[in-house]
Amino acid sequence: MHTLVFALFSINVLVSSISIPFIDNAVLVPVSISTSTIIQNLTCDQCLCNATSSQLAVNCFPNDTCQMFTNVPRTYTIETVANGRLYFPQQILPNASQCCMPDLDEVLSKLQNATSIYVSINNSRCLAFDNQGHVASIDSAAKLLKIFNATNLALTLQSSSLSTSSLTNMAYYDGNYYVGTSANTILIINGTNLTIINTINSSSLSGPRDMTFMDNGSIMIAASTGNNKLLIFNRTSVAPLSYSFAYQLPVSYAYPHGFLRINDSFLYVTSWFNNTVYSYNALNLYNMSWTETFDFSAIPVAPSSNGNHIQIDECDRRWFSLGNYGIKIFNSSGSPIGSFTLANLSVFDSLLTDNYVIYLSDTSSKRIIRIDPNMDCQY
Ligand SMILES: *[C@@H]1O[C@H](CO)[C@@H](O)[C@H](O)[C@H]1NC(C)=O
Ligand SMILES: *[C@@H]1O[C@H](CO)[C@@H](O)[C@H](O)[C@H]1NC(C)=O
Ligand SMILES: *[C@@H]1O[C@H](CO)[C@@H](O)[C@H](O)[C@H]1NC(C)=O
Ligand SMILES: *[C@@H]1O[C@H](CO)[C@@H](O)[C@H](O)[C@H]1NC(C)=O
Ligand SMILES: *[C@@H]1O[C@H](CO)[C@@H](O)[C@H](O)[C@H]1NC(C)=O
Ligand SMILES: *[C@@H]1O[C@H](CO)[C@@H](O)[C@H](O)[C@H]1NC(C)=O
Ligand SMILES: *[C@@H]1O[C@H](CO)[C@@H](O)[C@H](O)[C@H]1NC(C)=O
Ligand SMILES: *[C@@H]1O[C@H](CO)[C@@H](O)[C@H](O)[C@H]1NC(C)=O
Ligand SMILES: *[C@@H]1O[C@H](CO)[C@@H](O)[C@H](O)[C@H]1NC(C)=O
Ligand SMILES: *[C@@H]1O[C@H](CO)[C@@H](O)[C@H](O)[C@H]1NC(C)=O
Ligand SMILES: *[C@@H]1O[C@H](CO)[C@@H](O)[C@H](O)[C@H]1NC(C)=O
Ligand SMILES: *[C@@H]1O[C@H](CO)[C@@H](O)[C@H](O)[C@H]1NC(C)=O
Repeated sequence: MHTLVFALFSINVLVSSISIPFIDNAVLVPVSISTSTIIQNLTCDQCLCNATSSQLAVNCFPNDTCQMFTNVPRTYTIETVANGRLYFPQQILPNASQCCMPDLDEVLSKLQNATSIYVSINNSRCLAFDNQGHVASIDSAAKLLKIFNATNLALTLQSSSLSTSSLTNMAYYDGNYYVGTSANTILIINGTNLTIINTINSSSLSGPRDMTFMDNGSIMIAASTGNNKLLIFNRTSVAPLSYSFAYQLPVSYAYPHGFLRINDSFLYVTSWFNNTVYSYNALNLYNMSWTETFDFSAIPVAPSSNGNHIQIDECDRRWFSLGNYGIKIFNSSGSPIGSFTLANLSVFDSLLTDNYVIYLSDTSSKRIIRIDPNMDCQY
């Protein structure tokens, strides 16, 4: 939820003797779908004079460009723009920004009622979307990377056997897949033809788990679950793509496992063993200046180890994939607020789209499941 935390001022327009509220050094940025009109080459005053009785909000940019909204979008942010100004010409302040589906019970009910489709896969683990409308997973024991159509789960492409060792995890970044092996290597795999481009090695890597990328791929972070560390690699070559170990961060809990990257300096990490979630904040990606903060524990609703992966939805709720416990949902304070499960389900990983289409890798029924609750969040 976003609130108007900026100071609100107003100007008096003498001609009509009305007072127009505004926020200095700020503009309204729509998140959900909205319509607006952009007018160039007008000063802010000209723009406001031109604003008709239907304009609820007007952004004045410092370059003589303004943007007029007849409706304030349901979801928006107010962002700082030096010398910009956000006006409310009708003297009506917008409602607080809202997420699309604030009622979790409704979301869960729709998911439970929706029909699901699935595809069989043995020993599946992580799930990832590529940027071409596919969802990928691995068959850990058969050592295969499998790419499915994200809409109907038809198998689109499958690699040949990638390793003599079992596969532990998989991530997708910028056209390539990254697959960890139980031989403590990470394979870089071309996303188009699924051949191995390179192998990332480090003597510090013990049981590779989730991976994520920062600074446009200059940095790769990998969970090293066997020695309770996060390993930071830096990219040493773009062609052929290659990464080498830079430094490591010990974690304060057992078995770091799933990652959720928020931005270039912030990520969440799950503890597989403790069913907890920690956040990491980097002051500088290229040295060891990270801080670790405990976020929440799923132990009250999921008492035994299986803290696989975590996602956050558009309403700031945490969806924690917890194996046989299914998915447990927590609010931003870490209190349990809901649960999603199916018969004979053990969730290794899950993906959630903006419209609450959910994909589950289910190691118990040996399949990937897709459930579409038919929502329209219009992002
Ligand atoms: C804005 O003004 C500049 C300079 O006078 C002109 O080149 C440009 O075409 C104008 N743009 C519009 C949208 O009127
Ligand atoms: C004033 O706004 C209308 C649309 O609301 C636009 O058609 C017109 O060109 C604008 N006038 C100027 C001077 O930009
Ligand atoms: C003015 O700034 C806005 C916001 O940065 C930008 O979207 C727009 O293209 C700019 N307009 C011109 C004419 O440079
Ligand atoms: C705020 O929400 C109320 C209730 O949904 C609605 O009637 C009203 O038009 C909204 N106000 C604005 C400025 O959008
Ligand atoms: C789900 O199905 C149940 C039983 O048929 C029904 O009562 C409930 O309203 C449905 N929920 C939604 C969100 O459609
Ligand atoms: C799963 O493994 C069994 C036994 O090896 C095999 O018969 C079956 O074809 C596999 N299924 C898939 C979808 O790979
Ligand atoms: C997935 O399948 C649908 C339905 O057959 C098709 O329209 C779509 O193009 C496919 N997507 C991809 C990425 O192949
Ligand atoms: C991946 O393979 C495709 C097809 O051979 C090729 O066009 C592309 O350049 C390759 N990408 C990388 C990063 O090697
Ligand atoms: C896949 O792409 C890579 C990189 O472009 C290339 O070296 C390799 O020959 C391709 N493999 C196949 C089977 O096309
Ligand atoms: C990693 O090790 C493998 C096998 O030992 C080797 O083929 C590969 O070249 C190494 N990769 C790098 C980047 O050193
Ligand atoms: C990459 O890591 C090595 C080893 O820690 C370091 O010497 C080098 O400066 C790093 N590169 C960048 C761009 O930080
Ligand atoms: C993790 O769980 C174990 C077993 O319950 C417990 O002994 C340990 O203190 C926990 N560690 C943390 C950091 O919570």
